[in-house]
Amino acid sequence: MDLKQFVTVVPDYPKPGIQFKDITTLMDNGDAYRYATDQIVKYAREKQIELVVGPEARGFIIGCPVAYSLGVGFAPVRKEGKLPREVVRVEYGLEYGKDVLTIHKDAIKPGQRVLITDDLLATGGTIEATIKLVEELGGVVAGIAFLIELSYLDGRKLLDGYDVLTLMEF
Ligand code: PRP
Ligand code: MG
Repeated sequence: MDLKQFVTVVPDYPKPGIQFKDITTLMDNGDAYRYATDQIVKYAREKQIELVVGPEARGFIIGCPVAYSLGVGFAPVRKEGKLPREVVRVEYGLEYGKDVLTIHKDAIKPGQRVLITDDLLATGGTIEATIKLVEELGGVVAGIAFLIELSYLDGRKLLDGYDVLTLMEF
């Protein structure tokens, strides 16, 4: 299936010059959403994944159906102040300023094989921060899966040494 036909490119959103990749038109098509999910599930099986981890919010959309299909757990990575128990935290750079991502301290067992999921690889900052959280808890990042990679932003260079799957390149 050609998944790209289900992604809507929205010009000048959220600001002039940005070509926003809208995945909601992929998600609201049952066949396309299932096909994309199944591709990642197949990859995760090859990597013997034991837990899926994804950053809010769009990382949940990709990771949760994958975890369900594998029959493994899903651990959310959230912005600071959203998780109710003890967390580990990491600061990461945004285009303007900084933000913080957190994960519950007991979310990952040491040595557990983790798949990280997100909708989009742009600069790679979000996933670099997510990797740090997983590894701080002793998890093994056995795979990273995205729907979309913006190749021209070269986010992959931050993920050097990790196994990365992307279903579409723009
Ligand atoms: C978007 C997207 C990725 C991230 C990619 O998330 O969903 O998580 O940006 O950018 P990067 O590779 O440069 O880090 P956003 O922060 O907009 O939040 P959302 O998922 O909650 O919409
Ligand atoms: Mg996101």
